[in-house]
Amino acid sequence: MRFDVLTLFPELIQSHMGFSIMKRASDDGVIEVVTHNPRDYTHDKHRKVDDTPFGGGVGMVLMPQPYVDCYENVSRLENSVTIMMTPQGEPLTDGISNELAQYKQIIILCGHYEGFDERIREIIKPREISVGDFVLTGGELPALCLIDSVSRKLDGTLGKIESAHDDSFSDGLLEYPQYTKPRVYRGLEVPEVLLNGNHKMIEEYRKEQKIIRTKQKRPDLYEKWKNKQ
Ligand SMILES: C[S@@+](CC[C@H](N)C(=O)[O-])C[C@H]1O[C@@H](n2cnc3c(N)ncnc32)[C@H](O)[C@@H]1O
Repeated sequence: MRFDVLTLFPELIQSHMGFSIMKRASDDGVIEVVTHNPRDYTHDKHRKVDDTPFGGGVGMVLMPQPYVDCYENVSRLENSVTIMMTPQGEPLTDGISNELAQYKQIIILCGHYEGFDERIREIIKPREISVGDFVLTGGELPALCLIDSVSRKLDGTLGKIESAHDDSFSDGLLEYPQYTKPRVYRGLEVPEVLLNGNHKMIEEYRKEQKIIRTKQKRPDLYEKWKNKQ
């Protein structure tokens, strides 16, 4: 999977790729993350990428020319999708990450300041994705959320040790509670059922816990799951 990220701050993207599971996935060639800076496509000597909004208002808006030229210079693979990170987009979910993992290339537009000149949307026609109903200073963190969550879906990113099999959302429920050593910590004991080696009982306990905690923590997800049973 190739990610092409249009960003004014490429170091923010690259730094995340230098650690842990994402680094291994890059080193193993499971993913490739390439950054493109719209500032390199400006025509003026100040390399200006933003300007004041027509109609007045605070902040600076990203000008169309550097973004559109930069976008049009990204070489396109056959099975490719373009995403704009924006608080106005559809909320990123596990389902969308699964869907995006089917592509060979994801081109991601990261905004900054007050966001994109509307004509960038009109010309590029990206799919718009948000990471939640809050506003961040730039699209780099949202892009990294997307890259990370999609990468976890690809064969070869997670080793056995980090398996996504029982992760929250994979079957519509949140994950069961997890414990590791020691058996007792500050008087809190690991549930007996996890220590008895009876795999059937462990499986039943975990299934039950998933349902209980989803009902408690995310009644919206619980209702959806229940209606599908
Ligand atoms: C300060 S925001 C612009 C917000 C814009 N003025 C609005 O109200 O919709 C700057 C950039 O950060 C990114 N961004 C901020 N919050 C985001 C979110 N919740 N999801 C995805 N991207 C976000 C987008 O790329 C956006 O263009």
